[in-house]
Amino acid sequence: MTEAEVNRSVLKKDAPIGVFDSGVGGLTVVREIMRQIPNEKIIYFGDTARLPYGSKSRDTVTRFSEQIVRFLRTFQVKTIVVACNTASAYAMERLEQDTDIPMIGVVKPGAKMAAEMTRNGKVGVIATEATIGSGIYTEYIQDLNKNVTVYGKACPLFVPLVEEGLWEDPVTDEIARRYLTELIDIDIDTLILGCTHYPLIRSTLRKIMGESVTLVNPAYETARELKEMLGKLDLLCTEPPGLGSNRYQFYVSDKAEKFVRFANSIIKYGILSARTVNVEDFEGRR
Ligand code: DGL
Repeated sequence: MTEAEVNRSVLKKDAPIGVFDSGVGGLTVVREIMRQIPNEKIIYFGDTARLPYGSKSRDTVTRFSEQIVRFLRTFQVKTIVVACNTASAYAMERLEQDTDIPMIGVVKPGAKMAAEMTRNGKVGVIATEATIGSGIYTEYIQDLNKNVTVYGKACPLFVPLVEEGLWEDPVTDEIARRYLTELIDIDIDTLILGCTHYPLIRSTLRKIMGESVTLVNPAYETARELKEMLGKLDLLCTEPPGLGSNRYQFYVSDKAEKFVRFANSIIKYGILSARTVNVEDFEGRR
């Protein structure tokens, strides 16, 4: 949606930002939003009952994403961040067509930074099977620079390893080495961490790729672009929300306690609770 198309009269500066992901991974995006635009309120939804999205079909991920967008809109959010690479890859276009508020996904900002950073024109992307299979990173990067070659590698074992808390562990090292060897052999100079969970194993990836490879974190780039977009639309909160304004609210589709435990290992803010909601109730609602 362009700036001109945004119906500003219905969007309020002090309204929350909606953020969603298939589960806990999107919290790496939330963490960056909290750091870069700390005055904003956030409503987060993690689809913990239906993850992983990375092994599902385009139709299914799109349907789930549409339900979640309808749920988030009940909070009169001023924008929605699709904080899941798989949902951004599969559903972004459709969501943008159907939604009259500004939206941002994690793929474009990451692709943009990689196209800017590469010097030798060889960019690697690691992500879920769905994101790699969609070819979306290649498409966006080559739209920006035709001379860049993009090498995708699906790394399906990283998500469960991160969720098991094995962020720095010999098992993760070994699996990362196996996945990354071919990208090292190709001599990529830029690597996109194209899945929400991967920034959490950044030090392992750094160790294996070496200092000379630029690691692009789409979570960071997305928060930066979000700030820029809200600024242009005059929708950035300039003052912190008042006390008791429920600044950060978390919703999940299952296992709220487990979510809270994991969330507190990522976000230092101290998440006390998450509520469970049946997001399937939002099927077909306007
Ligand atoms: N959040 C997903 C992504 O960024 C990873 C987890 C999943 O497969 O659901 O692609």
